[in-house]
Amino acid sequence: MPIIAPSLLAADFTNLQSAINLIENSQADWYHLDVMDGAFVPNISFGQPVIAALKLKSSKFFDVHLMVEKPERYAEDFKKAGADLLTVHAEACIHLHRNIQQIKALGMQVGVALNPHTPIECLQYIIQHIDLVCLMSVNPGFGGQKFIETTYQKIREVKQMIDATFSSAIIEIDGGVTLQNAKDLVDAGATVLVAGNTVFSATNPTQMIADLKAVK
Ligand code: DX5
Ligand code: ZN
Repeated sequence: MPIIAPSLLAADFTNLQSAINLIENSQADWYHLDVMDGAFVPNISFGQPVIAALKLKSSKFFDVHLMVEKPERYAEDFKKAGADLLTVHAEACIHLHRNIQQIKALGMQVGVALNPHTPIECLQYIIQHIDLVCLMSVNPGFGGQKFIETTYQKIREVKQMIDATFSSAIIEIDGGVTLQNAKDLVDAGATVLVAGNTVFSATNPTQMIADLKAVK
């Protein structure tokens, strides 16, 4: 069964308590929290104060996705805010290896995200040091976009790299995940499915989370 991580980017920002109630009382495993800086991506979302406030009322795992330039400036702040896993973009890190060590030293799990165009070769010398590879299946910055089909091939290639190197990293898919493509993603090798609009725009979000969770 996949790990289901609803993205709060698609929640009603005037009523985050209802998003918490939904996730806490559902089969969702993680919160996926999208932090955007208006520089690495052309959009600004929310940051550590919002995440810290959410964490006080939540009991589940916080998967924080930093779409931010020079994320090393904020790693400690996100640890304090309650991040369990901190994902940085390979494209945003000149010293990615150093950033990975920093996040681990702070006591968080570490993920590396790749934009749709980014070749997987940049993972070659870090794959054994990370907990998660986040493959972007849309261009980061916005929710509600269409899934990019070449992601399937990329998942299979990353899975091969993980197996060949005996890495314990798992693969997360972020962007355009639906009930229609969820099974194919899991079959290709994905373990974590992020879902924003698919969950929060559903008629019955709790049932949608259960349906995604039941995919295998
Ligand atoms: C996009 C974000 C995603 C987004 C996914 O930049 O990283 O996590 O919230 O939203 P959906 O599931 O609606 O594509
Ligand atoms: Zn995300």
